[in-house]
Formats: sequence, structure tokens, C-alpha cells
Amino acid sequence: MTANPRRWLRATFGALEAVCTRVFSPAWNPLVQLGAIGWFFYWVVAVSGVYLYVFFDTGITRAYDTVEALTHAQPWIGGVMRSLHRYASDGLVAVALVHLLREFAFARMKGKRWFGWITGLPVLMLIYVSGITGYWLVWDVLAQYVAVTTAELLDVLPLFGEPISRNFVNQVALSSRFFTLMSFIHIAAPLLLLLFMWIHIHRHAAARIQPARGLGVLVAGSLLGLAIVVPAVSQARANLDQVQATIGLDWFYLPLYPLVQQWGGATVWQLLGGMLLVLGLVPWLPRGTPAPVAKVNLLNCNGCGRCVADCPFGALSLEPRSDWQKYQAEAVVNADRCFSCGLCVGSCPTATPFRSASVFAAGIELPQLPLVTLREQLEKSCAPLAGGDRLVVFACEHAGTLGADLRRNAAVARMPCIGMLPPSFIDFVFSRRLADGVVIAGCGANSCYHRLGQRWTEQRIAGQRDPWLRARVPRERIALSWDADLGAFRKGLASLPVLRLGGRGASKPLPLPAGPRWPVPMRAIGIALLLGAMAGITGLLATSPGWRQLGQDEAVLQLSIRHATATKVECKPLTPQQMAELKPNMRRPVDCPRERWPVYLELERDGQLLYRGTHEPSGLWNDGAATVFRTFRIPAGPQSIVVRMRDSGRASGFDHVHSGTIDLEPGQNFVIEFRSGEGFTWH
Ligand code: HEM
Ligand code: SF4
Ligand code: SF4
Repeated sequence: MTANPRRWLRATFGALEAVCTRVFSPAWNPLVQLGAIGWFFYWVVAVSGVYLYVFFDTGITRAYDTVEALTHAQPWIGGVMRSLHRYASDGLVAVALVHLLREFAFARMKGKRWFGWITGLPVLMLIYVSGITGYWLVWDVLAQYVAVTTAELLDVLPLFGEPISRNFVNQVALSSRFFTLMSFIHIAAPLLLLLFMWIHIHRHAAARIQPARGLGVLVAGSLLGLAIVVPAVSQARANLDQVQATIGLDWFYLPLYPLVQQWGGATVWQLLGGMLLVLGLVPWLPRGTPAPVAKVNLLNCNGCGRCVADCPFGALSLEPRSDWQKYQAEAVVNADRCFSCGLCVGSCPTATPFRSASVFAAGIELPQLPLVTLREQLEKSCAPLAGGDRLVVFACEHAGTLGADLRRNAAVARMPCIGMLPPSFIDFVFSRRLADGVVIAGCGANSCYHRLGQRWTEQRIAGQRDPWLRARVPRERIALSWDADLGAFRKGLASLPVLRLGGRGASKPLPLPAGPRWPVPMRAIGIALLLGAMAGITGLLATSPGWRQLGQDEAVLQLSIRHATATKVECKPLTPQQMAELKPNMRRPVDCPRERWPVYLELERDGQLLYRGTHEPSGLWNDGAATVFRTFRIPAGPQSIVVRMRDSGRASGFDHVHSGTIDLEPGQNFVIEFRSGEGFTWH
């Protein structure tokens, strides 16, 4: 994959996020908390699922009726619970896929950061297993389609001794065996999913698993609205003797199912395997040399543990002191987990540019950008600035190209993440009168590439997290690129009263003023439109467009055969001399070679060959039954059928022949079977 699709995707997400930030506000922007919304959907699915299960009968004969009773006899709570269960499951797929695309777009899975991506893949697979088995349980025509198509898919894999499809060949063959297995998987898979979701975020410090409260209420409201306006209902009752021409398909869960009919199960497996392989390789796609990891400088580390608390990737720990200093602990970097973001540098209380040492060093530093270099560069690039709107822009490497307005009369200091900036550097800029204003430029609101850089920066400036920006620093001279009108900020700088520091300032540091917001009524309309559109699309794709699996005038013919042919060599008694030649444990009075003859089959319809094939017996020694399972879509109406079988090893001619004229109704499922001893039967 080239870099271009990623760049394009990134730009698209950037534009969408900008709209969502305006409409929802930065705190409620759903695009930057997709994982948290995923968790929310999971819990809705789990709670509604437990409710449904109380009323559900897991036997195949009663399943449809119990789901119908739940939907119609208790339409409020039962119907709503069922709809919530379905739509939250659809939401889970949608959220997981958009989240996957977004993480890919922002390359948050490259190299050492593979863990989140790779553990996301089983999460995705388990979501699909849970959903597909769920559709099976309703036992309506969609469930029938899911059962028959899944069986066709599974039969391609060399997992089962005989085709599972034979379980669904018609109403007579139908057994509860698989249905019960599906009920079990439908409970086990979501539990396993929960485990993998936990593993998925296991390496993330302060992972966001709850959406912002306001957003949670909005999402829950839209889900409930959708459940009431478009309740989830069953389709017609399943009947394996009939195939319904068109069924409503859930395109979130079953988009590949129509391909099974079009391309065959083997091709769909290849497609799936290929997709999984590509996804699995994504973290290791070509990339630059990884940056050196953070390095602890024991001379300056007092073991306070702030870096451990602030590292977004759990790459730091406090360990017993290994040097002569009197402190109890020291910070230790786990190089495999360190992504060189520098957030730990921003959190270290010793990282202050006011230190008089000519070569100052913090307790922890990034070797590629020591703070002493940052200070020198800052002082040097500020020297030529003049006028009343001189700017220092502390910019994160992921902030993209800075606008012309930010580059004019400005000194720009880049760093891997804005969370690397020790707040004392802002104080330093104003104390030394290096500039009149400071802009902190990071990724979009709440979408920090290194997860927590923006959050920690905002909290440090607001005095909510150590190390604070001192209260004396004028907040009106600082702007966050993700939450401010930078043009207005720039213009306003020159008109501010002369900068005076030195006093203690306000007793408690104030947070920065919030950036521009749309008026509330406009935001409310925007939110209603966006969430309404999302709910509408979910409701629509959950059943439509319908999938036409059979033409109006078509019927289905199935060939379902399981036949143990005669053995190739007959049993013959051994002479005493032959017996003596055998090892004692191999001695038997009769020698019975086990290998059986293959089955050769021909199927003709109206004089035209529909199928011809040879099927070897199963088993390692070809000593089991040969099985044949084939489905054909044929025109309905009267037609002649001939089926012939050779099972005795003869070179030509047939051992079993069955023929006749049949008249098929549209949608009828006509089955030809063969049973040893009985010959062919059809119905
Ligand atoms: C509905 C299923 C999923 C849920 C609930 C979920 C949840 C989360 C959460 C909560 C985070 C942490 C966000 C943060 O606090 O920064 C996260 C990060 C991530 N997820 Fe997912 N995720 C899901 C599916 C996936 C899938 C399918 C993939 C891709 C295969 C994926 C890839 C990632 C990556 C790459 C990260 C970032 C890791 C990093 O920052 O190093 N996730 N996910
Ligand atoms: S924040 Fe600095 S002083 Fe504190 S433990 Fe980490 S490196 Fe050491
Ligand atoms: S550079 Fe980032 S990932 Fe590495 S230890 Fe510091 S905070 Fe953690």
C-alpha cells in the first residue's frame, strides 16, 4: 500500500474531525473517541443480550416463537431490548471499522506500536462471529440463509468429517445439534471478545473506555430513537423445504455472504485470508528508522514517578535505586514499549530551562532532542523577532504544516509530541521576553497522535496536573491550536497591556479561555442532523437492500449423498503359514483390506448434464463413506431428472440409476439423497 491512500484518508478524517469539533464541541467529538463508543455499544449489547436470553428458548423448534413473543407480546421492553441488541451490534461493527481506518490513517500502529493493531484483529473477528451466530438464533429465513451459507463456507475447510451442509438439507434432516452449538458460541464469543477488548487496551495508560458523558447520552438517545422508530423484527419463519427468493440482509455483518453464492466458498476464504494477511502486515510496512528511546539521567532523577504516571504506553516503571543517591526509586525505560514521544520529559520536575547550569539536563530526556538544545534553539530563533506580536510556536511533529499567519514573526520549536513541552518553557519565554505570545500547536482536538499529549498539556496549563504552568504566566497570551481562533489571537496580542511578570499572579492558575464555538441552536441542529443520519444509515443497512438469492421462477436442487461403497478387495482367510509369517500382534484369521471404491455420479436435467464427478471415500486409508453435497439453482416447472451412480469400481455402466419427471414450485428445495441399501430417494 502506498503512502497516498493513507494521506488521502488522513485528510478526509482531518476534515470530518474539524466539522465534528465545531458541531459537537471538542469534548464530545465522536470521531476522536470511537474506541470508547465501541465499549459503550458492547455494554448495551451485553445487557440487552442477557435480557433476551431470559426469554429465549435455545431449541430449534421453539426459537422463532420465543423471539416473536418477545417482540410482539411485550413490545415495549422486549421489542426495545431486541432492537437495542441489534442496532448496538451494528454500531459496534461500524465503529470498529471506522476506528480501524482512523488508526491506519494516522499510522498509530507502526513498528513497535503494533500491539493495538494486532490485538484489534481478533476483536474484529470476534465481533463478526458473535453477530453471525446471533442471526442464526432467530431461525427465520435470514437465519436459514446464514446457516446454509455458513455451512457451505465451513465445508470448504478440512475440519469436519462430513459436510455440515447436510444438517440443513431439508426440514427432515434438520437437527438441533448445530443450533445448540451456535447458541453456545453466541454466548462464548462475546465473552472472549470482552477479554480481547481488555487485552487490546491493556498497554494503554488511561485508555478511554467511556465516551464523554454528554456524547454517551446523545448516542444512547439515538440508539433508543432508532429502536422505537424502526423496531428490529424477524423475517418469515425458516423452512428448509423452501428457499425465499429475496431476504433482508444485515450488510454490517453479512457483506461477504452473497459472494459465497457468486464465487464459491473457497474464493471467499482466499479473499478473507488475503485481507487478514494484509491487515496483519500493516504494522510492518516500510517505515523510517525508529527514533532512539527515552533515556533516564540518574544524576537528575529523584524517583518522583511523575513520568511513570504520564507515559501513555506504560513504558516506564519505578525500580529500586541502583546508584549512591539517597532516593528510594529511579525511573526505568522499557525500550520495547517506548515510542519516543517525550511526554515523560514534559512531566519531569527537573526539566526547567531556568536552571543555571550551562548544560542542563532533565531526569529523563530524548537523546535526539535534549532540552538544552531546545533552549538554545529557542533563544537563537527568537533573537531576530521584533514588534508587539512576536510569537513562539511550540509545535508537535504531527501538527502538519503551520499556516502563514503562524510562521510570520515567529520562532517555531518542533518536538515529537506537544506533551513533551515542560510548562516552565512557556514561563521562560515570557520571563526572558523572548516573545509576546505562545501558540501550542498539536494534532486535532482530542486526537493526539501520542494519545495523551494534549490532555496532559491542557491540564498542566490549567494547574490540574504536575508540573503546572506557574500562575503568574498570563493565560491570555497562550493559545492552543486545537481550541483557539489563531488569527484573532495573533491580532489581539499587540493590543494587550505591557507584559509584566515577577509577581505571584493569581493564586490558582486559570484554564485557557475556550476557543470559538458555534451558537448553541446551530450546534443542536448539526448534532441532530449528524446523529439522525448515522442512526438512519444503521437502520437502513441492517436489512436493506434485500439480497435476491434466487430468481422468481427458480427452484433449488440439492444432491446429498453419503455412501460407504464396497471394499476394493474382499476379505479372505489366511493360511496357518501366512499367519506364522506375521508379527504376533498382527495375526488375524481373516485378511480384510479396508480401502473402498470411489463414487462416480452423473446428474442430468432435461437431457443435459448438470453435474458429473468422482468422489473418493473419506479417511486416511480411503475406508470411510464418500460424501457428495451440491446445490443447483434450476428453473421451476416440470422437468425430467436422471441421476446415476457407479460405486463398484467397474469401468463403465452404472450400479444405481433413478429417473423421473418432477414439477418444481418456484422456491422449492428439492433434495436427491442416496442411502446404502435403499438406493436413491428424492422429495
Ligand atoms: C469495537 C472494537 C474496538 C474497540 C472497542 C476498540 C477500543 C480501543 C480503545 C479504547 C483504544 C484506546 C484509545 C485511547 O485511549 O487512545 C484503542 C486503540 C487502538 N485500536 Fe482499537 N478498538 C476496537 C477495534 C480495533 C480494531 C479492529 C483495530 C485494528 C485492527 C484497532 C486498532 C487500534 C489501534 C492501532 C489503537 C491505537 C494503539 C496505539 O495508540 O498504540 N482497534 N482501541
Ligand atoms: S519524572 Fe523525572 S525525576 Fe521523576 S521519576 Fe521521572 S525521570 Fe525521575
Ligand atoms: S518517550 Fe513516551 S513512550 Fe517513551 S518513556 Fe517517555 S512517555 Fe513513555
